[in-house]
Amino acid sequence: MIRSVALVLLLLLPLTSISAAELNLYSARHYDTDFSLYDRFTEDTGIKVNLIEGGSDALIERILAEGELSPADILITVDAGRLWRAAQAGVFQSIDSPTLNARVPQYLRDPDNLWFGLSKRARVIAYRKSEGLPAPVTYEDLAKPAYRNRVCMRSSSNIYNLSLLAGMIETAGNEAAMQWAQGVVQNFARAPQGNDTAQLRAVASGECGVTIANTYYLGRMMASSDPADKAVVAELGIVFPDQDGRGTHVNISGAGVTRYAPNKPAAIAFMEYLTSEFAQRLFAEGNNEYPVVGKATGPISELGDFKEEQINAAIFGKRQAQAVMIFDRAGWR
Ligand SMILES: [Fe+2]
Repeated sequence: MIRSVALVLLLLLPLTSISAAELNLYSARHYDTDFSLYDRFTEDTGIKVNLIEGGSDALIERILAEGELSPADILITVDAGRLWRAAQAGVFQSIDSPTLNARVPQYLRDPDNLWFGLSKRARVIAYRKSEGLPAPVTYEDLAKPAYRNRVCMRSSSNIYNLSLLAGMIETAGNEAAMQWAQGVVQNFARAPQGNDTAQLRAVASGECGVTIANTYYLGRMMASSDPADKAVVAELGIVFPDQDGRGTHVNISGAGVTRYAPNKPAAIAFMEYLTSEFAQRLFAEGNNEYPVVGKATGPISELGDFKEEQINAAIFGKRQAQAVMIFDRAGWR
């Protein structure tokens, strides 16, 4: 009798402790589609999702400040360089989930399973079609004399360019990365300023001839009904760089289970749910990104298929300090 009661308890405990529970999600994403994602999870599991939104770095600081008492179960943020920083600071714990390991390609997750990529963005070249410049085919092209005074770029302190350069350091070495950064700086049409959207607008207006931007900024403009956005898109030629070589640089939105997660089983269940077909589609579409499982949908699917570089995303973090140093020496502010 005692044994069977114990057995029943054993069988019931994990279920009841999950189903009665709540999940605290710290997210740097703010898209309407995310709410449908959370609702479906609650319907399927009975687990209530509490959302705490904030900027990426602010959320990381908050989790660290809360320490062992942090109510956070999961942190969702963007760019592997930032996920790596969070991991270095001790924000995450390693997760052993056969589902996540099977669904998230190895190069899009931390080697110790501290974080997992959930959607992808490609860093593409946009150029002004009407300008008659040679269409670039590689990132290296942007350092060539053909683009003198025509390149606009975002600041080097931004994580996207740090991750891009970190990838180059990994594949081409410090020296080649330095030469590239110096060449691009020589080609600047103006001092680095603004976000990726600002670069795309500057290319369309003719202030510059070429830039680099993440695909979701393009997707947003392609989906926009604003005539000004349509005019920008009409001016742009889009290139997925390095298609004959190592492939286009891709980065991720991703998430990890926090080190002191009060509800680890629910957190893992939620992470697994995010890699389901249903969740992947909403998660990626919410920000015009590529899913890590399945094909692109929405406006960016019009950009077509491309070959992506498959170096492990953790490299973008590991090489970050070197990237900072090279940008600094090259005078890329
Ligand atoms: Fe962004």
